[in-house]
Amino acid sequence: MSVVALVLAAGRGERFGGDVPKGFTPLAGRSLLAHSVLALAASPEVQHILPVVPAEGDARAAACLAELEGVEKLLPPVGGGAERQDSMRAGLAAVPDGTTLVAVHDAARPLVRPSLVSDVVRAAREHGAALLAVPVPDTLKRAQGGVVIETPDRSEYFRAQTPQVFRIDLLREALAKAETSGAVVTDDASLIEALGAPVHLVPGDPENLKITVASDLVAAEALLARRRPEWEA
Ligand code: C5P
Repeated sequence: MSVVALVLAAGRGERFGGDVPKGFTPLAGRSLLAHSVLALAASPEVQHILPVVPAEGDARAAACLAELEGVEKLLPPVGGGAERQDSMRAGLAAVPDGTTLVAVHDAARPLVRPSLVSDVVRAAREHGAALLAVPVPDTLKRAQGGVVIETPDRSEYFRAQTPQVFRIDLLREALAKAETSGAVVTDDASLIEALGAPVHLVPGDPENLKITVASDLVAAEALLARRRPEWEA
C-alpha cells in the first residue's frame, strides 16, 4: 500500500493579498508549503509527497523546494491549474505507479499534526474515503437577505479540514464524474460524496487552521511559538 500526499500550493491567494503565492508565504522562518511538507513527511503512513505549485514557474517555488532538499519522500513538483480541482487533477496524474491511497492537503494548512495525518490515512485505508473535521463551536444561522430562516442543529455540522484521503480508484472515478457534470467544488470529499460513496470523519484539530487572510498568519505564528513541532522532536 503506497500512500502519496499531494500538497496543493498553486493558488494565487487573492483573499490573502500581496504578490507572493500563498504557499510560499513565510511563517516562522519557512514557507507554508515547507511546513506542510515536513508535517506530512513525519507521518510513517505517508510514503511520497508531491507538491503542486504555480504552473508558470516561480523562482520562489524553486527556493522553497530547495529548503526541502533533504526530505527523502519528496517527489519532483508539478504545475497546478486555474482552480484547486485542476491542481488536484494535475497532481493525481503524476502519482507513481503502485499508489493505492492519495492524501490531498492544502499547503495553506501548515499546522497539521503528523499524528492526525496518520489517523486519517488509516481511516481511508479501512473505509475508502476519510477527512479530518472539527465540530462547529458557534450557533449557526441560515439566512436569506439578512433575515434568519433557520437555526440548524449544530451537532450535525463540521468544519472540513485537510488532509482528505481517498482510495485512488475512487478519486479517479469521482474526478471523471465531475468533469462530465462540470461540477467545481472546494474540497475533494465533495467529489466522492457526489458518487454516493461514504466519506468518514476523523477528529481533526482546531489548530489545523487554514491561512486565508493575513491575520490568520498571526494566529498561526502564536500557535507555533508554543508548540514544539513533533517533526523536530
Ligand atoms: O484559495 P484557497 O485557500 O481555498 O486554496 C486552498 C489550497 O488550494 C491552497 O493551499 C492553494 O494554494 C491551493 N490551490 C491550488 N490551485 C488553485 C487554487 C488553490 O493548488 N488553482
